[in-house]
Amino acid sequence: MSEIELHRKLLGDAARNRGLHAALKDAIARIGPNCRVIDVGAGTGFLSFLARRLGAKHCTLIEYTDAIQLAQQLAQSNGIDGLDFIQAHSAEVRGLQKADLVISETLGNFALEENLLESLVDARRFLKPRGLMIPSALQQFAAPVSSPRLQNEIDIWGDIGFQLDLDAARSLSLNNMYVKDIDVADLAGASKCWDSLEFKTSGDAPDSRRNATLQWPATGLNSPTIHGFALWWEVEWLQGNRLSTAPDAAPTHWQQIYLPLLAPITLAAGDLIELQLKSDTRPSVGVRLQWQAARVRGGKRSQLQALDSLRGRL
Ligand SMILES: C[S@@+](CC[C@H](N)C(=O)[O-])C[C@H]1O[C@@H](n2cnc3c(N)ncnc32)[C@H](O)[C@@H]1O
Repeated sequence: MSEIELHRKLLGDAARNRGLHAALKDAIARIGPNCRVIDVGAGTGFLSFLARRLGAKHCTLIEYTDAIQLAQQLAQSNGIDGLDFIQAHSAEVRGLQKADLVISETLGNFALEENLLESLVDARRFLKPRGLMIPSALQQFAAPVSSPRLQNEIDIWGDIGFQLDLDAARSLSLNNMYVKDIDVADLAGASKCWDSLEFKTSGDAPDSRRNATLQWPATGLNSPTIHGFALWWEVEWLQGNRLSTAPDAAPTHWQQIYLPLLAPITLAAGDLIELQLKSDTRPSVGVRLQWQAARVRGGKRSQLQALDSLRGRL
């Protein structure tokens, strides 16, 4: 996707923009109008422009792509001053005057794929002692999916024909996270929160490796056949101001993530479906998600399928 297409999509997301505007308004009201803001992953400068219009005294925009040049141009055409522009990864930036507020909207479809956690932990050093951080918390959710529609959209490999065996390509491709619009009707069971993060400004930093094991009893599911799993998240921009990307929430440009299985799992009454999730967003790794599904019958785990986003790369 081109850089400008990414920004077109996210700037067209009114729910996102409204939530961030309200959070900035609240933060600036709490800190006072003389505040200094550092915008990590500033993109086209949108959040810094809002912050200046809401009364922030100064914003430093940090962005590693050429979008920073567009941000400079947009600042000029909107007559917004009081801005510094730095083209760099935030982890490489040194010597900034301490800020009252760090804001970073670097959430991915899979929430942590743009290394939001690592960028926010590192950005603690930009803050004054009682400074604020937006976002302040994140929860990640998972639910089993029973949807031949979703599976068929992805698993096209058996229908290509021409007497070609494309199985190796199929398993490579299924080892990927897919960005999809998942309907509530695609969910086979209730969601579970598998990860809860607080972006604190001090104290122990959360680990970049996030793990969880979740189970759903077959009796609570609305279908015995599981094709994969849905992931989504809910962010707290600032206390009391949240945005959810759940299938039953207002649609956002983030949509949901679909994690396919290599083969559907069919459950009998009394079985459990188990999902193990592991994500690793250490800077040396980038982003890696592993998901394993098993059927648990009478305490015995079987039909284990292990998928890994690293294996999905060509
Ligand atoms: C989702 S976009 C959001 C842009 C802008 N904050 C907004 O809300 O319109 C995230 C941007 O952050 C940049 N980015 C992500 N992590 C960064 C980091 N640690 N340092 C600098 N730029 C970063 C990406 O290149 C991308 O342009």
